[in-house]
Amino acid sequence: MDGNGRWAKQRGLPRIEGHRRGVETVRTIIEAAKGTGVRYLTLYAFSAENWKRPAAEVNALMLLLQRFLRSETKELVDKKIRLHTIGRTHELPDAVRTELDRALQATAQFTEWHLILALNYGSRTEVVDAAAAYAREVAAGREDPAQCSYEKLARHLCTAGLPDPDLVIRTSGESRISNFLLLQAAYAELLFTPTLWPDFCGEQFRAALAEFAGRERRFGATSEQLQPPA
Ligand code: FPP
Repeated sequence: MDGNGRWAKQRGLPRIEGHRRGVETVRTIIEAAKGTGVRYLTLYAFSAENWKRPAAEVNALMLLLQRFLRSETKELVDKKIRLHTIGRTHELPDAVRTELDRALQATAQFTEWHLILALNYGSRTEVVDAAAAYAREVAAGREDPAQCSYEKLARHLCTAGLPDPDLVIRTSGESRISNFLLLQAAYAELLFTPTLWPDFCGEQFRAALAEFAGRERRFGATSEQLQPPA
């Protein structure tokens, strides 16, 4: 969800106004995703590296998140959307964690639609945490490194139980992944749009899905193997 700062700057507004508008887009895209049948939507809301930002901006983002969770939980329940988080959420401020826990609990019974918020998330810290958890299993005699596989390691990633992303969309014209789901997106289709996140809309989301639908995903195989001649 990149480009909030530039959206605000272009209008002579403080950066936080861009984030505020960004929350509106979050609502729009959740609605759009449900309408298109996308069952899993992950939003990169705060990276493990975002703590480097000025304290005022970090605090404002935490407040926006807290308010979003408080105001949107009823909406998620009405829409039967289950909330998940990925990232080191135990390091978030207590007030955010309280709202998060409430929202997670309130939506825990839903199975069809899933909203995943990446909060204090970064792939590198995720891999470090997964490796440490796996090592503890080895030390306890429950895992044998000789039998290690990606599937076994992935059980310790914070996305355990969630499917890999099929499509990753980055807004704002940057062509980077920025530590987002690096392992899980190994075979994801990547789509970069110049639109700043606050201007991203349902129509653009649906256009991204249409572009995705037109791509050939070979997962290491050949075109011929995917579509053998009749
Ligand atoms: C990146 O844009 C955006 C963020 C670091 C924060 C995204 C957060 C929200 C949209 C609001 C909170 C989220 C939820 C789910 C309620 P940037 O600030 O780096 O933009 P710039 O590159 O133009 O400066």
